[in-house]
Amino acid sequence: MFISFEGIEGSGKSTQIELLEAHLKDTGHRVTKLREPGTTKMGEKIRDIFLQDTTELVDPITEAFLLYASRKHLDQNFLRKNIDNGLIVIADRYADATVAYQCYGKGLDKSFIDYVHRSSDLLTPDLTFYMDISAEQSRERISNREMDRMERESVEFFDRVRKGYLQIASENTERVVSLDANKSIDELRDEITTKTIEKLNVALG
Ligand code: TMP
Repeated sequence: MFISFEGIEGSGKSTQIELLEAHLKDTGHRVTKLREPGTTKMGEKIRDIFLQDTTELVDPITEAFLLYASRKHLDQNFLRKNIDNGLIVIADRYADATVAYQCYGKGLDKSFIDYVHRSSDLLTPDLTFYMDISAEQSRERISNREMDRMERESVEFFDRVRKGYLQIASENTERVVSLDANKSIDELRDEITTKTIEKLNVALG
């Protein structure tokens, strides 16, 4: 089973990923995690290029090709192998992020990304948790850390990304569970655990 977590910076994804991983392991499942862009050796190099500050212009097309280079490589070298071996894979971001950040956030044509995605022959998550917070809350939560190239984008940018995620969630209700990330860590953990177990039960018949 393939589970992804999405949300703008500071939405609490990492905490919930750790909690879900711990719960699944405690209940006897084999679990592995990935992060995007990244995870594989080549992917981590692409991540560095993608996130590093630069005075050069970085077009959303450039970003999209970097992201899909990393994503295809990840699919071939990590994701499929682990899924085929029966592991539960938890992803810290996946393809929805490209639609939210590069298309809704930066104006890249969504039909172009849909085409690249389809042509790349990639897996789709069985379940996606979208953790919703406002762009203002996000800025507040990350303002005391050193920001990378993407985190330095404006509040208006993150508001567009958030709207993108909400749109993706409303168009994919079978797959995407939209969560109010203002709830307590425990409440969110319980909702995420319940939905994951439901999905696992369906998958196991
Ligand atoms: P993170 O690991 O801290 O979430 O950093 C990854 C950054 O990359 C984050 O700002 C979101 C951005 N990103 C995109 O813009 N598009 C994508 O498709 C992905 C996976 C990430």
